[in-house]
Amino acid sequence: MTRDRMRHSALAAIAFAWIFGGVAAAQGHSPTQLRRFVDEQVGGIAKLMVPAHDTDIPQPRLANGSPDPQFVITEAKRYLGKQLFHDPIRTARILPEFGGVLATRQTASCASCHVGEAASKAGTLLNFAVGGEGRGFTDAGGNFTPRRRPRSDLPRLRTTPLFAGDALVDELPTLTDIYQFAVGSPARGRKLPPPGALLRTGRLDALDSVARNAPSVIGAAFNNRLLMGGFAGEPDDAPGGLNPFGFPAPESVALLLLDAHRMLEFQSAELQKFATYRKLFRDAFPAEAAAADAKGDLNLLINDITVLRATATFLRTTVTRNTPWDRFLTGDNGALTVAQRRGARLFFTPAAQGGGGCYTCHSGPMFNKQVNDPDVAGIGGFVEENFYNVGLADHPLQALNRVARHDPNFRDDGRREITGRDTDAFKFPQDADAAAAGTLTPRFTQPRGAGSPSGLGLSGDQMDDLTDFIENGLYDPAFVRFDPESPTRMFELGATDVVYSVYRPDLAELGAIDGRPASGLPQDNDDALSRRDAGLEFLDVTGKLNVARIDSHTSEGGKRREDVLRIANVSPDIVDTHLLLVVQGLADRLEVENASGFSAAGDPYIREFLADGALVPGQAVTVRVVVHRPSHGPEITYAITLLSGQGNP
Ligand code: HEC
Ligand code: HEC
Repeated sequence: MTRDRMRHSALAAIAFAWIFGGVAAAQGHSPTQLRRFVDEQVGGIAKLMVPAHDTDIPQPRLANGSPDPQFVITEAKRYLGKQLFHDPIRTARILPEFGGVLATRQTASCASCHVGEAASKAGTLLNFAVGGEGRGFTDAGGNFTPRRRPRSDLPRLRTTPLFAGDALVDELPTLTDIYQFAVGSPARGRKLPPPGALLRTGRLDALDSVARNAPSVIGAAFNNRLLMGGFAGEPDDAPGGLNPFGFPAPESVALLLLDAHRMLEFQSAELQKFATYRKLFRDAFPAEAAAADAKGDLNLLINDITVLRATATFLRTTVTRNTPWDRFLTGDNGALTVAQRRGARLFFTPAAQGGGGCYTCHSGPMFNKQVNDPDVAGIGGFVEENFYNVGLADHPLQALNRVARHDPNFRDDGRREITGRDTDAFKFPQDADAAAAGTLTPRFTQPRGAGSPSGLGLSGDQMDDLTDFIENGLYDPAFVRFDPESPTRMFELGATDVVYSVYRPDLAELGAIDGRPASGLPQDNDDALSRRDAGLEFLDVTGKLNVARIDSHTSEGGKRREDVLRIANVSPDIVDTHLLLVVQGLADRLEVENASGFSAAGDPYIREFLADGALVPGQAVTVRVVVHRPSHGPEITYAITLLSGQGNP
């Protein structure tokens, strides 16, 4: 653009702003106007604010308004629940008679599939806990890529792949049960007795993987139904209900998942072994502790029910409090950018009025409220029952479901399985038939009303604004990285949770190891690749790689030598995570200029970030080793040991 044209367009822009300034203001582009607009839309902006204190987060209450002691949110329960969520010690229910592999015992946790860096989702299409390996890798910019996959040493059960990438997966998705005499699909109503003995079950076989996307657990307290079809929290007498204790959704989900994820009936004995856990349970459940003391029976204190009650408290208190949006709501006019404010405006504008209409389903402080929303009456029914068939296509693992059940017509039809109502079919699992089913919501196909063109009809700029609002306006860095100043807590175990020597000397005294959950196992996963991902151990891969010096250059009168090494993977195996070149045998007074640090043994090492976190067979990288040598210093010779792993060797 020439200078003249630039000036011209700047003038035009000013004129435009002058003419249309009134319109822009009416559309709520100023922070104050946007706040007022949202306030009107939702019937009080306070409804969108995250309670500043955990004890003000929604929790079941008695008739007199005080929290029900069974479910009450306390700090001791939250702390314990968070520990339990991330501790692989609990996955002790490995039964070889159903195909369980003993080597996978106590290797995974809830956090194998709900990863802090992925906003507490799996961050991958397929999710794997027990029987999986690896967690993820960081690139040079510190960005994390989740990467969990089936363990390479697991027995392969099936040989015919059903879909691309399926060779990695086992035969039975978790929650798929095969009974004796079962010919067609098992009866839908869970109340019916099984047709015969349980022959095989995905809950107990070699690999824990659920044939649905693993969603976020953020804001569980604001939902009264959890899981895609609303199974958790549904009354026991619903056709597909399974809630014998009549638990609220967070306790209900925690109970269902003990069974699904190889913990039920086996975890308590493991937890009871640790002085740390005995103390944490005593702190969290004083009444149960007193009963256990009176009877001399630790089972009255540490059992599946106290575990799930602590877990539910952790789920309830998993919130973000310090997104730009949170700060905007409480009056910080600079918190959202102009584009993000435009995006927020679209989010809260009904589709029929040209907006995104997102708020009609995404309501409340965590944008996730559901059925029986107590705010519905208050805001004129704007927030509706929140189960929809949004027409998403098949989840690949469901192909396995059909094969395992010997039923080519098996469909994961979500909420219908729970309520028994045909009108609830495909709300909201992913299934190839979903979009063709009569229950597909017109709010997705014709969001602007019957007879209007399909889709929201948003412009590219509008979609950019909406995306900016969601991606950045709703992002809270302290959820991922420990920040003692933030009102938001990390989802993973952070310094205040596990640096016991500083924050919990009482637990340190009982043997808690800094950086690890209360059992002393590594956080989240305890398989070899995950331990390498966590920087806890390193694999010597020198024998798998060929190192060739392809160039060498001496400068500064012989005081500086730069070697260019080509490192090729000549093995049939993938080399994972980061490559660490440990420079050994270097004479005293010689220094590696580009060292990333020193190994525990005192040798300099160079960290090479591998693209996609892997060096596949046949692939090579080029790495420079720059050695500095003082005048009359010793000759430069060294040997390279190659390690795979993150952290410091
Ligand atoms: C193998 C992976 C895996 C493991 C392990 C796992 N989850 Fe999940 N989680 C999922 C998937 C998949 C879903 C969705 C399932 C559905 O809708 O039926 C889910 C759903 C949830 C939800 C519901 C979220 C919502 O908004 O509806 C909560 C809460 C939850 N998990 C908590 C836990 C807890 C607590 C544990 C440990 C006891 C756990 N998960 C272990 C994969 C996993
Ligand atoms: C008809 C109800 C409905 C409307 C309207 C709606 N959504 Fe959703 N949204 C859902 C459902 C249901 C899910 C969960 C789908 C799933 O996980 O299978 C979802 C999921 C999402 C997710 C993924 C959340 C996560 O944690 O993975 C985002 C982001 C999202 N919606 C944004 C929007 C935006 C932006 C709009 C407005 C343009 C919008 N939604 C309008 C029902 C709706």
